[in-house]
Amino acid sequence: MKKFTIKTIVNNRKYEFSVSQNQTLLHFLREELGLTGTKCGCEIGECGACTVLLNGEAVNSCLVLVPQIDGKEIVTVEGLSINGKLHPLQETFMNHDAVHCGFCTPGMLMSAKALLDKNPKAGEKEIRTAISGNLCRCTGYVQIVEAINDASEK
Ligand code: FES
Ligand code: FES
Repeated sequence: MKKFTIKTIVNNRKYEFSVSQNQTLLHFLREELGLTGTKCGCEIGECGACTVLLNGEAVNSCLVLVPQIDGKEIVTVEGLSINGKLHPLQETFMNHDAVHCGFCTPGMLMSAKALLDKNPKAGEKEIRTAISGNLCRCTGYVQIVEAINDASEK
């Protein structure tokens, strides 16, 4: 299998890796970097559990091949808190009881972060659109939407 050398920044840390051309970003994060906060659900772009930021855009990491991240920056759920201080979205998810089993939560947080980074005053319609690719089987979405709404600057 052909190998590529890539340089990338993940959660503000620089990496240089030799990778297989067919390895997905999802498996690279979980298996090479040990960042298991990014969840593996469907692996076909349907559930959003694997959502991370690629140069600030929310992407399904199961649909990205590692050579595609060469020279780019990734943020995973592990990169949200800084020096042990939770990101405001993590706080509001806790406050609104928006985490039940928690499997969808990392992906929800990253989709919400991508939205609020671009549109800090996002309203309910924009929030629902932003998380439309993230499935949750527990909450019914209401608490998640409320949590993101609470984190936006109204
Ligand atoms: S695991 Fe990537 S979208 Fe489901
Ligand atoms: S909290 Fe269980 S799938 Fe969303």
